[in-house]
Amino acid sequence: MSLIGLFKGKGTTGFGYNSSAEEVVNEMDLSGKSFLLTGCSSGLGEETLQALSKRGAHMIAAARSVGSAQEAIARTGANATPAACDLSDPASVRATVEAVQSLGRPLDAIICNAGVMAIASVQRIHGIEAQFFINHIGHFILVAGLLDSLSADGRVVMVSSSAHNMAPAWGIEFDDLGAKKNYSPWGRYGQSKLANLLFARELGRRFDGTGRSANALHPGVITTNLGRHMSPIARTAMALAGPLFLKNIPQGAATQCYLAAHPEASRYNGEYFADCNPAKSRVIGWDMELAARLWARSEEIVAGIS
Ligand SMILES: NC(=O)c1ccc[n+]([C@@H]2O[C@H](COP(=O)([O-])OP(=O)(O)OC[C@H]3O[C@@H](n4cnc5c(N)ncnc54)[C@H](OP(=O)(O)O)[C@@H]3O)[C@@H](O)[C@H]2O)c1
Repeated sequence: MSLIGLFKGKGTTGFGYNSSAEEVVNEMDLSGKSFLLTGCSSGLGEETLQALSKRGAHMIAAARSVGSAQEAIARTGANATPAACDLSDPASVRATVEAVQSLGRPLDAIICNAGVMAIASVQRIHGIEAQFFINHIGHFILVAGLLDSLSADGRVVMVSSSAHNMAPAWGIEFDDLGAKKNYSPWGRYGQSKLANLLFARELGRRFDGTGRSANALHPGVITTNLGRHMSPIARTAMALAGPLFLKNIPQGAATQCYLAAHPEASRYNGEYFADCNPAKSRVIGWDMELAARLWARSEEIVAGIS
């Protein structure tokens, strides 16, 4: 347990900062359940793959390439079907949608975990800034394409971040999604994570009264490969601080496992979670007009990509 963990208790769900992925699904029987997970090849995704599979779930483990998904499956010993889903490539995401549909089994949850953070200088995909594209648009194509495959009480879990606080004051740079006027690695990461949160809010609103749910979460701060775009000094500082001040990877994966698989989590919809409990987001993260505008703009962007 980290020093910070010493001062953290459990919340109303019975879990908290120190809970691990395995703990939140402990003794659950997930056999017969099917979960689609993006970013299975590293960090929180690999932990999620292992924890849910250990309880008997069948995982559709998506990574940028089939080979990388297969390697993660081999490392974790998971019961899983590998899938190639490169979120920077709409054709790859659409192929994943078709591949999942062709499996013909309803999905109990889609866990949108993959992400990139703080790319040092601007990169664009189809004219859109890369973090927004990979973290938000790629997942938008995936989830929207698979809504018919989601079971009657299926869940969508968006791995957002407290970094959504770093998005601009007005939320989303609709007039500069290509980051031609300005680019800040963290501001754009924050914007993409705010988009993950707003997407969950809007999808949750659409799911209201259906039995399905969509929620977003902040996993905590954990040393993973996510820091690959950070400076070597910042990466070293994080690695040193990790054992004392940060969550470990099993703790980091707990909130997404809770939202995806715990029976009690079915009562939450359109919520934002941290440490396995409902949490406060930034006020703009509750702006349903902004959420609706983001949805409409995302549809336009996707429609414009052949
Ligand atoms: N770690 C933290 O402190 C923290 C805090 C807040 C939020 N989060 C969020 O947690 C999620 C998981 O992050 P992590 O910490 O586990 O980081 P990680 O170890 O870097 O894992 C990220 C995963 O996303 C995949 N990915 C990256 N680009 C992709 C693309 N274009 N298409 C498909 N997959 C792609 C990576 O695949 P490759 O291995 O092939 O690159 C990897 O499997 C992210 O959404 C992140 O924003 C993490």
